[in-house]
Amino acid sequence: MGISPFITVAVDGGAASGKSSTSRALSARFNLMHVDTGSHYRTVTLALMQAGVSPEDSAAVETRLQAVPLGTVLEGRTARLAINSDVPADAKLRTPEINALVSPFAALPAVRRFLFDYQRSLAALARAHGFDGLIMEGRDIGSVIMPDADLRLFLEADPAARAARRVAEGGVDSIARRDQIDASRATAPLVCPPGAVRIDSTHLSLDEVVEKVAVLLEQLRAAKPTVTNS
Ligand code: CDP
Repeated sequence: MGISPFITVAVDGGAASGKSSTSRALSARFNLMHVDTGSHYRTVTLALMQAGVSPEDSAAVETRLQAVPLGTVLEGRTARLAINSDVPADAKLRTPEINALVSPFAALPAVRRFLFDYQRSLAALARAHGFDGLIMEGRDIGSVIMPDADLRLFLEADPAARAARRVAEGGVDSIARRDQIDASRATAPLVCPPGAVRIDSTHLSLDEVVEKVAVLLEQLRAAKPTVTNS
């Protein structure tokens, strides 16, 4: 019997560019395990904040991370990062304090190294759980974490549209400041990876973006050989 090919999708883009809503919709439609790596950086930021460590003290960050055990909890199709078996609620990860500190922490090579192997290991987890693929969103997914992804997407929208989306979600966020830090850092900066499909969603609805990508994924699935398991 033939089963679906395993498809990997990397979704990158700036703050509030629509990565999460798009990734969740595609995850449901194509049975892909969904990973939001922004929440990984937010979870690590929360742990470091609670330990009283500041992003200016990179030595203390490195030492502290050695005592942070990582795990994964599957919530529906989304794989969530757990620290000490605890997955912080979304509301705890999207506070103004975390919005302000996450990019300075994410710019530290020690923090990126800490998450690198973990994020790379998630494709195997998706296969083990019988998903038909993996969709991972962030800033360096197509460039660093999954450079060989079957499909690389780069989502954009003009800054005013993105700020309006965040306000509509009820968030207090400095999107432009985070983008500036994320795009200018030395390690794994936010870039449009080579070969990525750019989608500007300033004038598109979520459904329109999802439809555009769904067409690409259908083509990919049709072109990729199915795996035979008999
Ligand atoms: O939801 P939003 O697009 O505003 O941000 P997010 O995806 O939750 O990411 C929060 C922050 O984590 C970003 O501003 C980056 O500083 C960092 N991040 C990163 O450095 N690399 C990733 N792969 C994902 C997020």
